[in-house]
Amino acid sequence: MKKTSSSSGYRDPEVLVGLDLGTSKVTVVVAEREGPSGEAQIIGIGQAPSRGIRKGLIVNIDQTVKSLRHAIEDAENMVGLELTEATVSFSGSDVQSVKTRGMVSLGRAPRPVMQIDIERVIESAQANVSVPSGKMILHTIPVEYSLDGNSGIDDPLGMTAMRLDIELESVIVPVAMVQNVRNCVERARLDVSGLVIKPLASALGALTPEESVVGASVVDIGGGTCGVAVFMEGRPKHLAVVSVGGDHITNDVSTVLKIPINKAEEIKKEVDLFSEGTPDQPENLEFDHMGRNYSYSMSELTDIVQCRVEELFAVLIKNEISEAGVAMLPGGLVITGGGSKSAGIDHYLSRIMNTPVRVALPLDSGRMPPNRNGAEYTCAAGIIRYVLEQERDPFRFIDNSFDSFVSDSSIASPMGIGKIMNSAGRGGGRFSFVQSIINLFKELF
Ligand SMILES: Nc1ncnc2c1ncn2[C@@H]1O[C@H](COP(=O)(O)OP(=O)(O)OP(=O)(O)O)[C@@H](O)[C@H]1O
Ligand SMILES: [Mg+2]
Repeated sequence: MKKTSSSSGYRDPEVLVGLDLGTSKVTVVVAEREGPSGEAQIIGIGQAPSRGIRKGLIVNIDQTVKSLRHAIEDAENMVGLELTEATVSFSGSDVQSVKTRGMVSLGRAPRPVMQIDIERVIESAQANVSVPSGKMILHTIPVEYSLDGNSGIDDPLGMTAMRLDIELESVIVPVAMVQNVRNCVERARLDVSGLVIKPLASALGALTPEESVVGASVVDIGGGTCGVAVFMEGRPKHLAVVSVGGDHITNDVSTVLKIPINKAEEIKKEVDLFSEGTPDQPENLEFDHMGRNYSYSMSELTDIVQCRVEELFAVLIKNEISEAGVAMLPGGLVITGGGSKSAGIDHYLSRIMNTPVRVALPLDSGRMPPNRNGAEYTCAAGIIRYVLEQERDPFRFIDNSFDSFVSDSSIASPMGIGKIMNSAGRGGGRFSFVQSIINLFKELF
């Protein structure tokens, strides 16, 4: 929802809304800022338990819509505003991150790079992406520019050269997955103003600028998934979703101890499952449940849980991190999400991954409501950072999601760039500058 400026010249604060479709909970984050270039301040976070989402994927539309409505109402009550649109983070197991290269010649004599050259080079790299049927490109992310063979150019605009090269990352997801997300959010009476894949939002919500530049990987340990993002030189080198999360640990505890899931969840949060062999750790885990007394060998339980986490990180997540093709990540491993709250998990992961590990709260946690500023809110808070980044530099993260569904020209991603790029990508033909001007006029009038 966006308020317009008044005749006195005073600009009402603008409201930005993010919606995180999690497996355990649905979160709605509301931020307010003064003017389009002002700092945004999170003013409220609504949430509701998530029903109808399994391993990050919508499996029941009605239940998901109900959860969304509860979370939206909760946020509206907190901020005293009626929300009308949101940028939505989502995921699922079938998320591919594909790299391609593109090149354009700037002419026989060196000249400054113009915006249209950047659009052309992005388009040329996009033309090399093969999108399987039933799938679509959700994000187009320029990873690295080179000028006359010199790599590591952060922003080529205005720099002089004869040739511009790009490495582009495309995040490909099933069309049906995106359509289900849109349907649910719209049925919960919010317009979708943008979509973002969860690991990208989590990384933006957790990584310090230094970590993002020197290189670090971020793992958001959620309920049903782990979002993986590898950043280097301030840009995402690889994004992935692994369909294993904290709930798998709960299931293991429940199976081993033969207790219901809710009791297993309680135990998982109370018992230190990772600091094996410390003097404080008892030999046996003893507790009462439904009138029965349980006693179980602590080391047997921690072995099972640690095996699960080792397999998750040392195999599945390590494979994804290596896909980034980055030799060194001096910023180490940054973990966030509800699963990162397990006592001792950082030291355990540091040992098995042989890298420094930091448990990250949202970068904005100091300005978020108390009790809703923990690691499980990093992704939601990151959505607001994503929106602001996208507005600051429309070529940083290009949202292609409107291409597949939108015929209504009034709906566009921030600054209309997503739509401009989409019109280039759709036919695979040349990007038309004239067409972009026509589109802009259509949007304005
Ligand atoms: N204090 C805690 N100790 C250990 N685990 C915890 C703690 N608090 C929450 N969790 C676990 O975190 C997980 C939920 O995390 P989170 O809220 O980030 O998930 P989500 O965003 O809803 O799911 P996803 O991102 O997978 O779709 C659950 O498995 C829960 O058991
Ligand atoms: Mg999550």
